[in-house]
Amino acid sequence: MDLLPSDQVLSKGVKLQRVMGHIQFVNVSFRYPSRAKTPVLDGINVSVQAHEVVAIVGLSGSGKSTLVNLLLRLYEPITGQTVIKFCSDMKAKRTVIVIARRLSTIKAADRIVVMDVGRITEMGNHTELLEKDGLYAKLVGAQTDTLA
Ligand SMILES: Nc1ncnc2c1ncn2[C@@H]1O[C@H](COP(=O)(O)OP(=O)(O)OP(=O)(O)O)[C@@H](O)[C@H]1O
Ligand SMILES: [Mg+2]
Repeated sequence: MDLLPSDQVLSKGVKLQRVMGHIQFVNVSFRYPSRAKTPVLDGINVSVQAHEVVAIVGLSGSGKSTLVNLLLRLYEPITGQTVIKFCSDMKAKRTVIVIARRLSTIKAADRIVVMDVGRITEMGNHTELLEKDGLYAKLVGAQTDTLA
């Protein structure tokens, strides 16, 4: 699928990070320097293919923004690494990681990453995750149109 950039930008409550290429989080753990005792990300492993659209969902404080901040290199992971392998083909479609609150955006993603207190607990598409009947199903059930 190919979400047009304008659709994404206009969606209220959606933050995004786009790159041309393949993104990897390899065993990423993180704590903020000001709260050095509190783990914020704990052993995150995600690989996002070039051209893939991935939605990150989870309750407030689960670490979604922190994950994107590490990708932007605003902070360095304590362990592990973030890797971006840029595409040489500049005509390639963008890889999109979206912190999505709108169910319509989340449903349209190729893959949904569900975070819970700094860990990835579920991954899959909307239908797969509903069938799993775990945290994602709970979040969708709790809020028909929005997710934290
Ligand atoms: N600058 C900071 N210094 C210290 N702790 C922080 C900082 N930013 C976030 N945190 C803490 O890190 C954890 C993860 O926060 P983060 O903002 O990544 O969550 P989130 O999933 O993006 O939440 P939200 O849905 O509210 O945006 C929370 O416990 C939060 O309190
Ligand atoms: Mg956030």
